[in-house]
Amino acid sequence: MALTSKDVLSALASFRTSSGIEVLKAGYIQDVAVEPHAAGFQVNIHVDDVWRGEAVKDEDRQTITFFIKTHFPDVQNVRIIPRSREKADAARKIARPSQSPPRTPPGTKMIAVISGKGGVGKSTVSINLARSLADLGFRTAILDCDIYGFSVPDLLQIEEPIKTRERQFIPPHVNNIDVMSMKFFVGHNTPVMWRGPMLGKAIRQMMEETLWNQPEYMVLDLPPGTGDIAMDVHDYFPKAAAILVTTPDANAAKVAERAGQMARSLERRLIGVVENMAYLNCPECGYRWYPLGQGGAETVAKSLQIPLLAKIPWVISGESGVRGLVPTDHPTRNIYDQLAQKINEMDLVPTGDITNSFASAQFVVPGKQVPNDGNDATRHG
Ligand SMILES: Nc1ncnc2c1ncn2[C@@H]1O[C@H](COP(=O)(O)OP(=O)(O)OP(=O)(O)O)[C@@H](O)[C@H]1O
Ligand SMILES: [Mg+2]
Repeated sequence: MALTSKDVLSALASFRTSSGIEVLKAGYIQDVAVEPHAAGFQVNIHVDDVWRGEAVKDEDRQTITFFIKTHFPDVQNVRIIPRSREKADAARKIARPSQSPPRTPPGTKMIAVISGKGGVGKSTVSINLARSLADLGFRTAILDCDIYGFSVPDLLQIEEPIKTRERQFIPPHVNNIDVMSMKFFVGHNTPVMWRGPMLGKAIRQMMEETLWNQPEYMVLDLPPGTGDIAMDVHDYFPKAAAILVTTPDANAAKVAERAGQMARSLERRLIGVVENMAYLNCPECGYRWYPLGQGGAETVAKSLQIPLLAKIPWVISGESGVRGLVPTDHPTRNIYDQLAQKINEMDLVPTGDITNSFASAQFVVPGKQVPNDGNDATRHG
């Protein structure tokens, strides 16, 4: 039976590298061609040779070859052909499944907070930055894009149920920030186990079906890392400028650098690095020490050639007011205020004037449905 490139492509849709990357979805594979070879076929796979800023690994080529040969016994030969970056970029635009970004409120400057490693303080930085932008007088919103590891409502101690009006969600308004998160739609400790399309659907619905109050700034708290989930979420916000959060240790910095390269490969604008947990001021004697070492953010800033925007110290438990939110009279508040000021002085591009005609579909989560009655304020979870 004849083998077509379509057959090979649909098989490759389920292929993952040893590190879990879906190569087809991630844009690594640019083109597939099948030609006759001996008694069977030869498959030519064109790949991006400097994918995500790194040379293609031999190991990945071998596993793809093995995968194709096991899937299609008639395949006698597989050639993995690296393409130059330029051609790969052009081809990626065609090959990468385009997921149209969600409609955003008009006139909003979007700031994506990203990191390489988890736990470096993205969510903490996101809420405090949002708070400082709000303090500068801007209408500010925060969208918790960490669908699986949402934490923004907890950090802001939001307990009240989400309300709806005319099939749209009214975001809780806390510390002058409009907040939207997956947490509002699932049970307290219910794990969210959605994959691919559902993830996109959740983000789209949170963005499009929320009654945003014409935010001038929207902070996006992104999931950590450079894996498929982070890449997918990035894809939904092509206009967002990215801030890279790292801790000062060399390990976190290295991973942060990779995340920065990934953001660049997705054509995101990287506006700077924020070093969190940079130092600790002893509350007793004022001595400053560096529990995680020093220099990580400088390394990242230098290698990616972006500014180091702020160094945030450890905020000792009990010093902070609302969990992760640094109180107004705390010295660290100033650092966040200056960060917000710096960002505001940058030439960020606001979202276009897009008609805000919201879809009427209900937000569906496994086993639950959000009421569409304007007066209904049932707690979901
Ligand atoms: N500057 C800081 N001082 C003290 N504790 C901090 C600081 N920044 C963050 N933390 C604490 O470290 C933990 C991780 O922070 P946070 O949740 O903001 O990280 P994250 O990068 O968003 O994590 P994840 O990758 O899981 O989303 C939290 O308990 C938070 O309160
Ligand atoms: Mg987080």
